[in-house]
Amino acid sequence: MLLRSIAIAVTGFTIGARAFDITDLYFWQPDSSTALPTDSASLSAFLATYSVTATGVNLYAPYHTTCPESGVREAVEINDDEKEYVASRHEKTNESLKSFLERANMSNFDPKSFIDDNSKDHNISIGIAFSGGGYRAMLNGAGQMLGLDGRYEEANDKGLGGLLQSSTYLAGLSGGNWLVGSVVLNNFISINDILNGTIDIWDLTDSIFYPTTVNLYKAVKYYYLITSAIDAKKDAGFDTSITDIWGRALSYQFFDDGSSGLNLTWSKITGLSSFMDFEMPFPIVVADGRTPGEFIINQNSTVFEISPYELGSWDPSLKAFTPTKYLGSSYNNGSPNGSCYANFDNGGFIMGTSSSLFNQIILQINGYDVPSIIKSLVEKLLSIVSTAEDDIAAYEPNPFLHSEFGASERIVTNDTLYLVDGGEDGQNVPLYPLIQTSRKLDIIFAFDNSADTSENWANGTSLVKTYQRQYYPQGKGTPFPYVPSVDEFWNQGLNERPVFFGCDAKNLTTLVEYHNSTVNETDIPLLVWFSNHRISQNSNTSTFKMSYENDERDALIQNGFEVASRANLTEDSEWLTCVGCAIIRRQQERTGEAQTEECQKCFAKYCWQGDAKDAAASSVTLAAVTSAASSSALRLGSSSSSSSKKNSADFISSKSLLFYLVNAVLLLVI
Ligand SMILES: *[C@@H]1O[C@H](CO)[C@@H](O)[C@H](O)[C@H]1NC(C)=O
Ligand SMILES: *[C@@H]1O[C@H](CO)[C@@H](O)[C@H](O)[C@H]1NC(C)=O
Ligand SMILES: *[C@@H]1O[C@H](CO)[C@@H](O)[C@H](O)[C@H]1NC(C)=O
Ligand SMILES: *[C@@H]1O[C@H](CO)[C@@H](O)[C@H](O)[C@H]1NC(C)=O
Ligand SMILES: *[C@@H]1O[C@H](CO)[C@@H](O)[C@H](O)[C@H]1NC(C)=O
Ligand SMILES: *[C@@H]1O[C@H](CO)[C@@H](O)[C@H](O)[C@H]1NC(C)=O
Ligand SMILES: *[C@@H]1O[C@H](CO)[C@@H](O)[C@H](O)[C@H]1NC(C)=O
Ligand SMILES: *[C@@H]1O[C@H](CO)[C@@H](O)[C@H](O)[C@H]1NC(C)=O
Ligand SMILES: *[C@@H]1O[C@H](CO)[C@@H](O)[C@H](O)[C@H]1NC(C)=O
Ligand SMILES: *[C@@H]1O[C@H](CO)[C@@H](O)[C@H](O)[C@H]1NC(C)=O
Ligand SMILES: *[C@@H]1O[C@H](CO)[C@@H](O)[C@H](O)[C@H]1NC(C)=O
Ligand SMILES: *[C@@H]1O[C@H](CO)[C@@H](O)[C@H](O)[C@H]1NC(C)=O
Repeated sequence: MLLRSIAIAVTGFTIGARAFDITDLYFWQPDSSTALPTDSASLSAFLATYSVTATGVNLYAPYHTTCPESGVREAVEINDDEKEYVASRHEKTNESLKSFLERANMSNFDPKSFIDDNSKDHNISIGIAFSGGGYRAMLNGAGQMLGLDGRYEEANDKGLGGLLQSSTYLAGLSGGNWLVGSVVLNNFISINDILNGTIDIWDLTDSIFYPTTVNLYKAVKYYYLITSAIDAKKDAGFDTSITDIWGRALSYQFFDDGSSGLNLTWSKITGLSSFMDFEMPFPIVVADGRTPGEFIINQNSTVFEISPYELGSWDPSLKAFTPTKYLGSSYNNGSPNGSCYANFDNGGFIMGTSSSLFNQIILQINGYDVPSIIKSLVEKLLSIVSTAEDDIAAYEPNPFLHSEFGASERIVTNDTLYLVDGGEDGQNVPLYPLIQTSRKLDIIFAFDNSADTSENWANGTSLVKTYQRQYYPQGKGTPFPYVPSVDEFWNQGLNERPVFFGCDAKNLTTLVEYHNSTVNETDIPLLVWFSNHRISQNSNTSTFKMSYENDERDALIQNGFEVASRANLTEDSEWLTCVGCAIIRRQQERTGEAQTEECQKCFAKYCWQGDAKDAAASSVTLAAVTSAASSSALRLGSSSSSSSKKNSADFISSKSLLFYLVNAVLLLVI
């Protein structure tokens, strides 16, 4: 089949009304010194040199390895390796944070003694989260990240430079994870170095399906290489899904290591120098569990996180983690059964998993104005993967098979673990890993580049979903500060400037009582929310816009920088100071230190001043929700609808799904 496709390329094909032959193919070849073999067998052998080891094994294929001691552990605390990483990371962040706070120029405050004196009891831990939303989210997020990057002089002059270096955790979801994954897997490269061409990635001028519009030869090679990678994984005995195609396709835009990340795995982050030197915040990707045919919402989704060390979920439905490096291995009841593999956790595949909603686009290739040869190559690709459920990534064998820690039958009895785009449950900002109390975060900077409104702006929906989730069994034990309803986000203009939530820990007592956990109010992180809004550019491009000219790309990045920096500190010259006030807040509350007048002014300006009664669940009072959560109607997996609240939640979810689809169709029509 593959050879036949290549043969079509060699003997002739048509684009529009015009027929082309082999001469044209040569004509288009960029590097004429490399002669293209004329018979299809040599052609495929030639192309194969791009993707296999000396022994002829495709680098994408998982390979046999010795088994780890234990395959699955119960999710009670953070992993030991992560704990060690974080401890060493704090030796970096403590110094960066001192410089950041010095620069914040806060009156009556001595950063050095504040950090030094308190560090034996608690080190300030900062988390950063980048939402989903396709390239819009990736690019706005890139500008926002640049605005926090102390390696970029302009961020130090007129932004929050140094905050990235002061952070302990970095979480990404879907498009936000294209950003996090690109940066982290390229050895924590700075966005500035991506833009100035230090590495050759993020050329978004071509569609991901037809990467070199002027060069069919390259496109054929591209599809050939994707196909051979997926064939190789299949030949090694693994299920493949559209996510494999999607992950490979994405990788061509994110990695310039010669084979486009063919053997770059998520667990290999631990071998990168910036990780071994603790220069990067600990990176975490978010995806959701969803088996084919299932429908999930924030109340009953199982939120998965994938770190360089582990994949799994804290949620009661699973409550377990497995080593990322040994994905593809088979375990029974958590113990390795002798057949272990490595190299399954391909970086592009993990990034594709978190953004699997975009799998839809691959299926729409027939709607694109692309040469028939490309269509036939895509058809060939689709014919070798399972397309039963377009948006699902298949992790087979399921590491959690017969795992004893979770409550969800569906996850632990199936041979395959099914993961989907992290935004499918409406929680489009990857906050879940960051609000786990065992991670002990003080503050989260959340960059929300979602398309909630019909004009592709965020309106707080994602925060509301995460806030409400804590009142259902899946979310119990992970307190999240009060946030207003979506209407209030809009009415109060909270989407047009950064907002702080959970400013006063003492006002969060009701939450602590509700969760009945061992945490203190001061253990609930303060949340700083930035939503995408126009400063210098219309940064509300469609989620499904799949190609950007370089100037469009750079414009979104600039707007992102301006969102993080409040227009280069021109909208508020005290912005940096106010961020400093927010960072030290929980530590001050722990030690009983009073807030300075200056910080009180900042809080008056940036804090949302609501409490339980003003919060998003206003129609579901805390008491009602608490008792409802314990009633069977809202238990996991139940599909019975017991209140109008639930119906409206369903409505919103299906409506936004419809919105995505409509967007996708529009894109295809254009
Ligand atoms: C805080 O970090 C320092 C290293 O910078 C470490 O010595 C100290 O034990 C840490 N404190 C806590 C409470 O973990
Ligand atoms: C901060 O980390 C450095 C190591 O980089 C260490 O020498 C110092 O004691 C730490 N300070 C605190 C307050 O933990
Ligand atoms: C620091 O703040 C003081 C007022 O508190 C102000 O006079 C001074 O100019 C500020 N310095 C910088 C570098 O912004
Ligand atoms: C890009 O900028 C960095 C500084 O951030 C510099 O070290 C590097 O040389 C620049 N690279 C190019 C290709 O201009
Ligand atoms: C990928 O494979 C090539 C060839 O075997 C090897 O040189 C390279 O180091 C590998 N890259 C990674 C990230 O393992
Ligand atoms: C796994 O889940 C799929 C999709 O829901 C289903 O078709 C299949 O039968 C399940 N397999 C097992 C062993 O339960
Ligand atoms: C906010 O976003 C939600 C989810 O997309 C949408 O249903 C709602 O209409 C939006 N509200 C406003 C005021 O834009
Ligand atoms: C809180 O938790 C404790 C220990 O788990 C339990 O004994 C107690 O009944 C719980 N209280 C409420 C109100 O649920
Ligand atoms: C809560 O904080 C108080 C005062 O800082 C402390 O005495 C108490 O042990 C803390 N409780 C928990 C569960 O950490
Ligand atoms: C912010 O600074 C950049 C240059 O660093 C400039 O191009 C841009 O116009 C500035 N934006 C605003 C809103 O001042
Ligand atoms: C906390 O509660 C006090 C009194 O109940 C109120 O004045 C204050 O505004 C609240 N703070 C926030 C940030 O909501
Ligand atoms: C989640 O809840 C929704 C709405 O009640 C329901 O339609 C869906 O089947 C539930 N999904 C799971 C996995 O429980």
